Amino acid sequence: MTFSEILTARRSRALTGAVRAPGDKSMSHRALMLGGLAMGDTTIEGLLEGDDILATARAVEAFGALVQRTGDGAWRVEGRGGYQTPSGVIDCGNAGTGVRLLMGVAAGFDLSVTFDGDASLRKRPMKRVTGPLSDMGARFDWGGAEDRLPLTLHGGGLKGMVYRQTVASAQVKSAILLAGLNAAGETAVIEPEPSRDHTERMLRAFGAVVYVSETGEGRVARLQGGQRLTGTHVAVPGDPSSAAFPLAAGLIVPGSVVTVEGVMLNPLRTGLFQTWIEMGADLTIANRRMAGGEEVGDVTARHSALKGITVPTERAASMIDEYPILSATAAYAEGATVMRGIGEMRVKESDRISLMAAGLAACGVKVEEEPEGFIVTGSPCVQGGATVRTAHDHRIAMSHLVLGLNSEEPVAVDDPGMIATSFPGFVELMQGLGASIEPR
Ligand code: S3P
Repeated sequence: MTFSEILTARRSRALTGAVRAPGDKSMSHRALMLGGLAMGDTTIEGLLEGDDILATARAVEAFGALVQRTGDGAWRVEGRGGYQTPSGVIDCGNAGTGVRLLMGVAAGFDLSVTFDGDASLRKRPMKRVTGPLSDMGARFDWGGAEDRLPLTLHGGGLKGMVYRQTVASAQVKSAILLAGLNAAGETAVIEPEPSRDHTERMLRAFGAVVYVSETGEGRVARLQGGQRLTGTHVAVPGDPSSAAFPLAAGLIVPGSVVTVEGVMLNPLRTGLFQTWIEMGADLTIANRRMAGGEEVGDVTARHSALKGITVPTERAASMIDEYPILSATAAYAEGATVMRGIGEMRVKESDRISLMAAGLAACGVKVEEEPEGFIVTGSPCVQGGATVRTAHDHRIAMSHLVLGLNSEEPVAVDDPGMIATSFPGFVELMQGLGASIEPR
């Protein structure tokens, strides 16, 4: 189903059923990029077929690999052992992860490439990646404003470096490590607050040697330049950031029991689940197993009486994409949920603090916005009755649709088309659980 107009969520009867979340977005980007970088064939099972990932697939092909969807729904990447100058501009669409990681990979090769993106991506900061890559020897020309897309990268001749993270960003860490693969000497990234480690794990799956250690300064990931990758098989588990939406609906709609199967449980991604449990959520995990080098499990959410808590700031990196849906569930919790130390939310696909604060307030929820966070004071009875501005942000849209599944009045979102960037089939999946979400 595609939508060009408004979608509306209405108070729903109990949601029940078991579903699978789409493939993890972070792992899907990396599987395609590393497949293109490796020698030989990579097969990817469970790839997220969202718009962000399809943009990365086209980019990897433009850099010289062969990328195909096979008859059984898997993907095959035939890598050539390196990236070449593409014939046109690389358009990464809405995907910050796509463009920042691709810059890292491309910087390691003797090529020139222009990167661009949609209106949202053109507003996001790029110097956090171009800065360290310049220190390694890459050169950049800004096509318009400094720090923003479009930009042209001239790669090759890199030297390894030691980089100390100033923001807890897996995108920055990954760009530097990926560039380091084709730099002279060693590259290391020091993280005072550890961010998701899919790049380190997946590089190993493709045959690279990556050392990770805990030191007094934080977690250190390092690798030696000049390593060659070999194609492999990647099984992408379900995305915990996407699973969060049906699970949140299960928590807030009375009588619900919702299971999402095969959810990735990497501890650097599960801050939201821990937070919900501390808020009193009846959230259980069964059938824990290993898949695609990650622990996965089946997560069940039952309707729960939630209580507000203060989310520890050091947990932010492990749930940075989940604060929008956390704030929607906090709207139904008794008392205040305090979310601080999350200024990074302002430079995601939209300014997520400001948009969630505005959307929740329009639905009658008490919200206090701060420069680096927000506080939501909930009640079991949320008024709703608004059409919320999403500023083309998929997670803002899905969070408000979930909010509307138990509000007095319906909640509508203005731009549901963007949901397909990370969660194609979201509406059908939610409807299958019994949610009332319809085009209006
Ligand atoms: C991602 C890292 C996060 C996250 C994004 C995916 C990744 O960004 O918000 O959706 O796959 O590395 P930062 O690392 O910049 O916080």
